[in-house]
Amino acid sequence: MAIKHYLQFKDLTREEYDYLFERTRIIKDKFKRYETHHPLHDRTLIMIFEKASTRTRLSFEAGMQQLGGSAIYLNTRDTQLGRGEPVEDSGQVMSRMSDLIMIRTFEQTIVERLAKSSRVPVINGLTNEYHPCQIMADIYTFIEHRGPIQGKTVAWVGDSNNVCNTWLQAAEVLDFTVHVSTPPGYEVEPERAGLLGTGHFKQFADPVEAVKGADLVTTDVWTSMGFEAENEQRIKAFADWCVDAELMREAKPEAVFMHCLPAHRGEEVTAEVIDGSQSVVWDEAENRMHAQKALMEYLLLGRVE
Ligand code: CP
Ligand code: NVA
Repeated sequence: MAIKHYLQFKDLTREEYDYLFERTRIIKDKFKRYETHHPLHDRTLIMIFEKASTRTRLSFEAGMQQLGGSAIYLNTRDTQLGRGEPVEDSGQVMSRMSDLIMIRTFEQTIVERLAKSSRVPVINGLTNEYHPCQIMADIYTFIEHRGPIQGKTVAWVGDSNNVCNTWLQAAEVLDFTVHVSTPPGYEVEPERAGLLGTGHFKQFADPVEAVKGADLVTTDVWTSMGFEAENEQRIKAFADWCVDAELMREAKPEAVFMHCLPAHRGEEVTAEVIDGSQSVVWDEAENRMHAQKALMEYLLLGRVE
């Protein structure tokens, strides 16, 4: 089987996502029933972190263990990556000692270079541009709570960052609409988002207009990792882009609220919303693990049923 990498959301087709979402459900059910599921017995996942993480590290490490394999954690500081060893050389070496590589890093080009030099599948665990594993889990979470996402409207309020870009790609692949509202100067850059331009997103200056009638409202931190130097300026620019209860009332009454986490209560979202009845953030975090188990199984074994 040819190597399949997962570097951005559009690397997989709608049919593949349909399969993965169904597989996620089966794998999650088994986990809840304490049923052993070891299709990746003796396989090794290498995880490279050039940025901080709680959920991504835990969900991949626990997930790989639950699939019967093991995971090795590496970070920039403790490896030769931090001392300038080229990512291509690292890819050559790491992929001779493992079956899968997951990387969280800065520019998307780093992930692409790693994949080119790797003999095994590479998974993007977040770059400046994209966070595909997050949106795969988010959409699975939406399906669990509300059914198919096709034809639905997702409202994104805040920074047009890696998570936003990935929602936009997902809308093109899975045929739903994303309404984006950002402060002036922080609008979506369609090319950076890797969009085909199929008309699945609309930009709004006013967050209220973006959220009207939405099925899902979501946001993320105002300052992503790697952009800390802009923090003060961003706090001022984003002050009116906070998801509060008043804004949530503009969405459909049955709308869910999502946040990839970590969250800053009182900045991009109020405590009332993130800790309120429409919020599904804890299911969203848990589903990272189940969805990624389905993904790792798929990248290594293909369709198993
Ligand atoms: N949502 C997410 O990727 O969280 P971490 O940064 O904790 O991995
Ligand atoms: N946009 C955030 C997501 C963290 C999971 C960041 O890149 O820091």
